[in-house]
Amino acid sequence: MMKKFPLMRNNIARQDLDLVIEHLKLDDPILTNGPKCREFEAAWSKWLGVKYSVFVSSGSAANLISMAILKAENPQGGEIIVPPLTWVSDIASVIQNGFTPVFCDINPTTLAMNDREVIAAITDRTVGVFLTHVQGFNGLTDWLVDELNARSIPLIEDVCESHGAEHKGKKVGTFGYMSNFSFYYAHHMTTIEGGMVCTDDEALYQKIRMFRSHGMLRETTDIALQNEFKATYPDLNPAFIFAHAAYNLRNNEIGAIIGLNQLKGLDQIVADRTANQELFFSLLDGEKYQKDFLFEGSSNYAFNLILKNKDDELMKRLEVALDENSIEYRKGSAGGGNQIRQPYLKDLNLGLEPRDFQNTEHVHFYGMYIGNFPTLNAEEIKEICSVINAV
Ligand SMILES: Cc1ncc(COP(=O)(O)O)c(C=O)c1O
Repeated sequence: MMKKFPLMRNNIARQDLDLVIEHLKLDDPILTNGPKCREFEAAWSKWLGVKYSVFVSSGSAANLISMAILKAENPQGGEIIVPPLTWVSDIASVIQNGFTPVFCDINPTTLAMNDREVIAAITDRTVGVFLTHVQGFNGLTDWLVDELNARSIPLIEDVCESHGAEHKGKKVGTFGYMSNFSFYYAHHMTTIEGGMVCTDDEALYQKIRMFRSHGMLRETTDIALQNEFKATYPDLNPAFIFAHAAYNLRNNEIGAIIGLNQLKGLDQIVADRTANQELFFSLLDGEKYQKDFLFEGSSNYAFNLILKNKDDELMKRLEVALDENSIEYRKGSAGGGNQIRQPYLKDLNLGLEPRDFQNTEHVHFYGMYIGNFPTLNAEEIKEICSVINAV
């Protein structure tokens, strides 16, 4: 049954659906990846402030493509620095491409990796830093960005939960070698399922296009590259040259039509979510709950409710109160908490010890998130806070 206060409400509007219906009424509508996808990619690039974007089937597909390309660029393998507080596909994509994940604990004020730990974890085997901007917070620092640039280590930003967040007035997702977004239903905006891979690097853009689509050469718009392959492989049909062992991770015109319309309202969505977050934290009892987050530049995904102290009793009472008052929540915050506790990682025997990541452990056992979305109004936020504060 739908909760009184769910994680998300009405993220696909009547107008989005009407636009899809209009398209379906055309005589012979294109439904596969086509001109609407191109239009959405261009509009997204403009909104984000990057040169190139590639529309894919999910945020996880975006993660898979970025790690598969890093693998193609580093066939010898190596280490990728990752957070324990993230989504499964941020770690799975690393493993699936034969890299070793090297974990760094989070900074409790941003929930993203602690920059000091990331820089300390860099070795001559590091081939990338795969940072997650968690729950709408900006996870970047100047020090981290400058240090990675100085050492020529690619930064890959996962912005799936943080559309519109900014670092020093510039949108996150514009700082890395590439950045990944999700348009899953509960996110800031949706295309039902969907994602985007973004970059300013032309050569990388061409690879992303090919990796999205079977590794097919004809997906590049780089004619010189096409001619080079055609000359090297004269025995192949040019329409079927597979330059990379890749995937089909394309999205379609229906998703693009919804995405184009949703994008028009995204700045307002970010503003509304941010205003809700301000109200939530202004009302929250700072004796029991953590309030010292770095809110600057944040574009809140969900209300992060983290106990100030390790208190199992309080956590239990909080869960009971939320259940009784029909307030939906997700324990452990992003991705269910500490990934190192998950079976898929245990099976790899990497010798990881969850307790070595104390800040993530705290969020895992004493943290959760509650839905925030533009149609959640001030009265509702006050009601949620009065339940939480009374625990
Ligand atoms: C940080 C992060 N990365 C990646 C994803 C995966 O996105 P998708 O559900 O579109 O595959 C999610 C999903 O919510 C996420 O929170």
